[in-house]
Amino acid sequence: MVQQTINRLESNIRGYVRSFPTVFKSASGAWQVDQDGKKFLDFFAGAGTLNYGHNNQAVKKALLAYIENDGVMHGLDTATVAKVELLDAIDEILLQPRNMDYKVQFTGPTGTNAVEAAIKLARKSKQRSHIVAFTNAYHGHSLGSLALTGNQYYHDISYGSHNNVSHLPFDGYLGDLDTSILLEKMLADRSSGLPLPAAVILETVQGEGGINVASFQWLRSVERICRRHDVLLIVDDIQVGNGRTGSFFSFEPAGIEPDIICVSKAFGGGLPMSLLLMRRECDTWNPGEHTGTFRGNNLAFVAARVLLEYWRDNELSLQIQSSGNLIEQTLRQILSQFNSTCSDVRGRGMIWGIEFSKPELASQVCRKAFENGLMIETSGACDQVVKLLPPLTISTEDLRYGLTVLNDSIAAVVEEQKKPPVSFVPEMDGLNFGLPVGSFASF
Ligand SMILES: Cc1ncc(COP(=O)(O)O)c(C=O)c1O
Repeated sequence: MVQQTINRLESNIRGYVRSFPTVFKSASGAWQVDQDGKKFLDFFAGAGTLNYGHNNQAVKKALLAYIENDGVMHGLDTATVAKVELLDAIDEILLQPRNMDYKVQFTGPTGTNAVEAAIKLARKSKQRSHIVAFTNAYHGHSLGSLALTGNQYYHDISYGSHNNVSHLPFDGYLGDLDTSILLEKMLADRSSGLPLPAAVILETVQGEGGINVASFQWLRSVERICRRHDVLLIVDDIQVGNGRTGSFFSFEPAGIEPDIICVSKAFGGGLPMSLLLMRRECDTWNPGEHTGTFRGNNLAFVAARVLLEYWRDNELSLQIQSSGNLIEQTLRQILSQFNSTCSDVRGRGMIWGIEFSKPELASQVCRKAFENGLMIETSGACDQVVKLLPPLTISTEDLRYGLTVLNDSIAAVVEEQKKPPVSFVPEMDGLNFGLPVGSFASF
């Protein structure tokens, strides 16, 4: 069924349908159900968009009421009640308690729109075209964002896509060496070949890049260097913001204050919306200078306002901490049990990755997990990491269940590895040996 309609009509570009080859019909909380009634526990959560679960009940209620009352659905960037209420909630729940004097820009609906707006604003503010990004960075696929994205799989020489961008080593890229020293040296040395950039852009935990966790010390050091050289610091919190690492913004525990913050994915609870938070003095835009039709998704505004209620107290943060501990403990057990297959465990809060020494095993584990009713994906330069992104609101029981399925799927793949590969030789001279390749050694 999937193959017939999808393969016939959808472009070859299709991606996740290949990883999750079924037709989904309904979803609630941490679960999705396909059209045959098979249930799947979701450890992928729309690539970090469903932090509060599928069809979050509070959001559902608010949206139904809003639609029932003919609330404005599309509003360009006109003022609507939904927008005003969201801005008030952002101010009251996010900005004021953190002493953040930031302004809000609603960009186009998807994450890459926020990144495009951020780098354009930085370039305009500083009147410099260059941007520094990091190895294994992932910032989206429109051409400005793609230039910042490391993985060569997404690039083609014809896109001319690395213009005005340099990539420097992210934290950990050179083992224990503090790579911020290189950033400092390159910026200080006017003969390094690196033009003075308008901004440095980073993810505090690289999600698509393989769950690479920047230390707080490194983040602070990069911030200091940016200040010293009059360079703006942009944090792309699209995947690991919205509570994914435990605090609403992923950089909070590091104590840094980015000039521009990119927010998207889970902010609208699954409805498309992206925004920038910018320090007041960075707001150098002229009216309507960076515009777009879909900057007024009022349904997403309603959803986002409801979801911000989770951040009035620290209940969810505590739950993330406890679920994160459970994930880490389980993954470390798996690492020690399968230490010749798995090479590392990394993460923070509720984003974790387990790395495989043979990259192809990570994909095999994900395929096996899906057969067993668990949705989980890979990340990293060679797709060598199995990435865990369950909804933040998942129950402990469901989380334990999913971790058990993951453990069993890894065990099954390791077992399969031990078997000699079965490959049949073609008929030769009328004989069909029909023996596994391995047995030819003694033939
Ligand atoms: C850190 C980060 N930035 C930007 C993006 C791009 O967002 P979108 O796919 O919504 O354009 C992503 C998507 O995964 C991301 O993880």
